[in-house]
Amino acid sequence: MSRAWFITFEGIDGAGKSTHIEGLADWFRSQGRQVTLTREPGGTPLSEKLRELVLHQAMDPLTEALLMFAARREHLLQVIEPALARADVVLCDRFTDATFAYQGGGRGFDWRVLQTLEQWVQHLPPAADLRQPDLTVWFDLPPEVAAQRLSSARVPDKFEAQPVEFFRQVRAAYAKRMQEMPQRFARIAADQDRPSVWRDVLQSVAERVHESR
Ligand code: TMP
Repeated sequence: MSRAWFITFEGIDGAGKSTHIEGLADWFRSQGRQVTLTREPGGTPLSEKLRELVLHQAMDPLTEALLMFAARREHLLQVIEPALARADVVLCDRFTDATFAYQGGGRGFDWRVLQTLEQWVQHLPPAADLRQPDLTVWFDLPPEVAAQRLSSARVPDKFEAQPVEFFRQVRAAYAKRMQEMPQRFARIAADQDRPSVWRDVLQSVAERVHESR
């Protein structure tokens, strides 16, 4: 049986990940794989309620980080772990790197506290190791380019409404996470045209999937 895959997608708002995630879901399905397509914050009824709160209400940075991890815990237990146990391909639009990037980088919240929360939430006994993505596709682009793409988009949520400087910090924190765990990251230059981004995304995912066969 083909092995399970846990693949996450990251980037600042406006990086354009959504269409490529859909494209990858189709690509895996065309190879006969079961795909679980999900997102954070969200993915379960309770986590979607928490999403509504964190995206639309002002709150203390620790409260915000705790709610992100609370939503994640539910999502892991109810959706991600059962899907991986079935050997699905789990494609998750954002995961813990987003908490380090947005709450750690953007809000300036303590990196070590986030690492402690990560240990608590992603430790799933009897496994000794933390649950981490097998691969994280990081759509990287300058915040100025992302801001231009977003300006014509829908009504912004709490994060989308942040100034460019916030997203500079978010981007720097993604780079720091990649430095800490380079083996699971694939950085995509997301300021190219859409077909070129798709080519790079597919190539990086196909390489990992095929080399582990
Ligand atoms: P989305 O618009 O890509 O669905 O993401 C929702 C927003 O939530 C996005 O602006 C990033 C933010 N976010 C955090 O601040 N921390 C997190 O841990 C996650 C998963 C998302």
